[in-house]
Formats: sequence, C-alpha cells, structure tokens
Amino acid sequence: MRSTKFLGLAGTAAAMMLTLAACGGGDASGAGDSKEFRLALNQTETHPSYIALDNMGKNLDKATDGRVSVDVYANETLGAQQEAIQLVSDGTVEMAVVSGTQLENLNPEFQVFNLPGVFDNVEHQMKVVGDETIVGDLYSSLEDQNLTVLGGFTQGTRSIYNAKGPVKGPADMAGMKIRVQESDVQLDMIKAMGGAPAPMAFGEVYTALQSGVIDAAENNEVSYLTQKHSEVAKYFSNTNHLVGLDYVVVNTDAYEAMSAEDRTAFDEQWTAAVTEHTGLWTTETEKAHKELEGSGVKFNDVDTAAFQTALKPLIEKYVTTDSAKKIYDAARAAAS
Ligand code: GCU
Repeated sequence: MRSTKFLGLAGTAAAMMLTLAACGGGDASGAGDSKEFRLALNQTETHPSYIALDNMGKNLDKATDGRVSVDVYANETLGAQQEAIQLVSDGTVEMAVVSGTQLENLNPEFQVFNLPGVFDNVEHQMKVVGDETIVGDLYSSLEDQNLTVLGGFTQGTRSIYNAKGPVKGPADMAGMKIRVQESDVQLDMIKAMGGAPAPMAFGEVYTALQSGVIDAAENNEVSYLTQKHSEVAKYFSNTNHLVGLDYVVVNTDAYEAMSAEDRTAFDEQWTAAVTEHTGLWTTETEKAHKELEGSGVKFNDVDTAAFQTALKPLIEKYVTTDSAKKIYDAARAAAS
C-alpha cells in the first residue's frame, strides 16, 4: 500500500536544503547525541499549530537538557503536505502536520474521520481522536511506511467562501469551481454539495482565488484569515459542513531511536501541545471572526438541513469495511 508518489519540485528542493544543513550542522554541545526533529508545517507563525508545536519544541529541549528539540518550519518551506508526508516517511524530515486527507491516501481507513457528519463539534472530535481504544490500530497502521501518528489537532469547522456572493444552499454552488484538498472524500463532498471540485495544495489557493482559476474554497476561519484568503474571497457562507482533522506524524525510526527517558518527555510534551492547541483553537477562532468582520467579510447563514441531506450518502459510500464501520460506530457512540 506504500504510496510511490514522486516528490514535487518543492519537496526535492527541501530535501537538498536539509541535506546541506545536516552536512554543515552538528551538535553545539559537542556531545554528538542531540536530536533535532524538523517539523514541516503549511501554516503561518501565527496559527495555533505553529504556536503549540513551537512551545512543545522549547519545553522538550528544556526537559531533556538539550538532547531533543523540535524545530517548526512554517509556510510550506519544507514542501506542501503531499511532499512533506513522503519526506517524513523516508526520514529526510522527522515530523509533519498533515491533514487527514493525506493519510486517507496511505490507508483508506482514515477516510472515516474525513467524512462530514462524523464529528458533531471540536469537543466530540478531540474526545474520539484521543481515545486509544478507538484510534490505537489506526494510528499504528502506517508504521510499515515508517510513519507513526502521534495524534490529532482539530481544524475546527470548515465552510465555503468565494468572491461572487452568498451561498445559501446547494443550488448556489452549481457551476462553481471549488478548491479541495487532494482526497476522494473531499472531491465527493463538494460534488454532493453541488459544486465542481478542483484539488490543489493549500499554498496555491490564494493565487488561484485571486486569478480566478477557482471560484471558491473551503476552510476554517483561522486559515481563511492567516492565509489572507479573505482578501480575495469576501463572502463566507456558514456551511459548517465538516469538522476537519490534522495529524502530527513522526518518522518511526527517529521516534524509536530516542532513549526511554527522552521518549517519555517527548510524549508528555506532545500531550501538552494537544491541550494547548485545543484551547488556542477556541480563542483564535473568536479573534479571527472579529477581525474578519472588521475587515469587511460578509458572513451569511445557509440552509443547513439541505447541505446535511446532500452529504448523508457519503457515509454509506465510504463506511463499507468492518473495520471502518467499527471506527465510525465508536466515533458516533462518543457523541453526547
Ligand atoms: C486546514 C488544515 C491544513 C490543511 C488546510 C487545507 O488549514 O489545518 O492542514 O492543509 O486546511 O485546506 O489544505
């Protein structure tokens, strides 16, 4: 099942850069056994994922007396997510934040958590993705590809935005070319909602919206603001069609090479990062909303029931195997 996608140009450049850095690098203490986990991220330095992981790196450095640290490379500098996951798998980069959509391309069972209607809200989602009895097998399923899934970061609720006017129901999306993440579930999701999906990397969306290559995109308010998509697509329609999920993945060899003591510190700091991220998510979403309103973004409510009805068949289409059903049922049972 190992994916054999070639590295794109960005990924190749990133790999060369890191090789050069490794040649010139070294351990400042001279001890020779320090480990820097380089982490690929496609968000800005103001995004909750950057803040929580940067703090994780600093705290880990302290907790291990400088033996282990995490360095976050923001803004796709190490490549877009499709390249980043390959770089982590082959050990060129040690860690990455990737959307669930990337993991469904490596193991289709991850599709369950990428479906609209599985999670009611962020709280429900975080309860499910932190429950070892539900996600244990799923998270270890990529180890044959040298990838360990540490856990999830919420993407919050995602909605549709465009430059032309308010979307109120599926009919308003007819003929609209809408950027989606590179995943079968996301392609089907936009088709079910009435639009025409156009898969592309996150970092290309601003220019594609600005130049009219696409008419619309969908994301949470934090990314809509931090990526400046709000400058080029002023109508934000509260479809709230999906509670999205990111994962933090680490190269299995690098993770297992740590001493037991350092790995315990690493796991503790990761748990703290999840708590910090989830807390930041609420405050940063509220802040983003206010800032967006102040900048002239036009929010509108939609016919939620019509979108929910249109999206329902996706569950039947994608939750087909016994193991997918087990994950889905356990996730739904955890909803309050
Ligand atoms: C969110 C998510 C990213 C993802 C992006 C996208 O911002 O946190 O991991 O890449 O959406 O739409 O591509």
